[in-house]
Amino acid sequence: MNREKITPIPETEEKYAAMFRVVEGMLEEYDRTGGKRRNRIRYSRMDHTRRVYSWMRKLYEAYPEKEKLDADSLRIATIFHDCGYSILSGEAAGGNPPGEKHAAAGARLCREYLEKEGYPREQIDFVCRLIAEHSNKNCLQDDIPAELVLLLEADLLDDTGLQGIVVDIWMEAADENATFESILEHIRRYTLKLMRENPMRTAKAREIWEEKRRLTEQFVEKYAADLRML
Ligand SMILES: [Fe+2]
Ligand SMILES: [Fe+2]
Repeated sequence: MNREKITPIPETEEKYAAMFRVVEGMLEEYDRTGGKRRNRIRYSRMDHTRRVYSWMRKLYEAYPEKEKLDADSLRIATIFHDCGYSILSGEAAGGNPPGEKHAAAGARLCREYLEKEGYPREQIDFVCRLIAEHSNKNCLQDDIPAELVLLLEADLLDDTGLQGIVVDIWMEAADENATFESILEHIRRYTLKLMRENPMRTAKAREIWEEKRRLTEQFVEKYAADLRML
């Protein structure tokens, strides 16, 4: 499902690679400690960011009116979308306002970067709006810019389906009393429940979600049948 070729855009690729390096620097401390403390598993926000970027590229390629999209802003927003997690690991962002959530913090950090790089005000505002609103998954049905739809969809496509099952197993197995049955229950409570409703909006994302849902249901069904062999 991930094998379609994505056309590179060579003349600007280095610009985005440089942005990835900036975000990697921001998230370094969080990825070493923060992710593990919160979820009991080692979760790399940076790897998630790279996967979301690949999902976004795939959805962008399939988008019927892609020439109308602000591809540059979408790419920048995707790269920076979760950099705000760095505030959760202490010093990294340097004195964030108390209670600030990762999306708002990410928008603030990205604004600082883009201003320093001399981006026009209008584009900075747009990129920061995409980042600030990316964690409000309820707005997928609202009248929002198509760039935000693609970012929200790409973000939701990561860690779901079979990957969601692995996360469930990983989290449940961190409990020393975990059993095959408790893992099955964990998957039913989280990934299976999540997959049942397709929140995607564009045709390509709906199709990908549908395949993930089918595989998840098949896994749970077959795994449950195997456990009943006792
Ligand atoms: Fe996020
Ligand atoms: Fe994310």
